[in-house]
Amino acid sequence: MLSVTEQRGVEFSSDLIAQFDDIATRYPEGKQKSALLPILHLVQAEYGWLSPGVMDQVAAYLNIKPIEVYEVATFYTMFFLRPQGKYVLEVCRTGPCCLVGAEKIMEHIEKSLGVKEGEVTEDGKFSWRGVECLAACGMAPVLQIGPEYTFYEKLTEQSVDQLIEELKNKA
Ligand code: FES
Repeated sequence: MLSVTEQRGVEFSSDLIAQFDDIATRYPEGKQKSALLPILHLVQAEYGWLSPGVMDQVAAYLNIKPIEVYEVATFYTMFFLRPQGKYVLEVCRTGPCCLVGAEKIMEHIEKSLGVKEGEVTEDGKFSWRGVECLAACGMAPVLQIGPEYTFYEKLTEQSVDQLIEELKNKA
């Protein structure tokens, strides 16, 4: 993942541009702005988050104003506007999950990782945040990890510890 400084002067790779082109050609001439969402997903997968510099470059590619990219990126919570860990633990903090311990799970994650919500661990591997209902209320409490959005359900402090340990040992 590139640092903030490196992202300022970033140039998209030819491979990434080829993927943009492939997406953009799916839309009628003059409607390339419709490719914005899938392109932002690709860019986030590449850089880990959407810096202003990167969003400006997306705007230049699509020939739209930077504000049009910012509007979309700030609306959808799946886009990160600051650097994140390699693994982002997104814990549901909506009512049904809270009723069965989501707040305690978040406190436990904060203590285990040693970082507050939105911060990144020193090794760059983890960050976490509370999110709204993940539509798995029957399996509460629940967390998801992107970009595949893998779900972990019926969480306990022990299962969270096990998950963090498994991710720490992942390459
Ligand atoms: Fe947590 Fe719905 S309230 S998944």
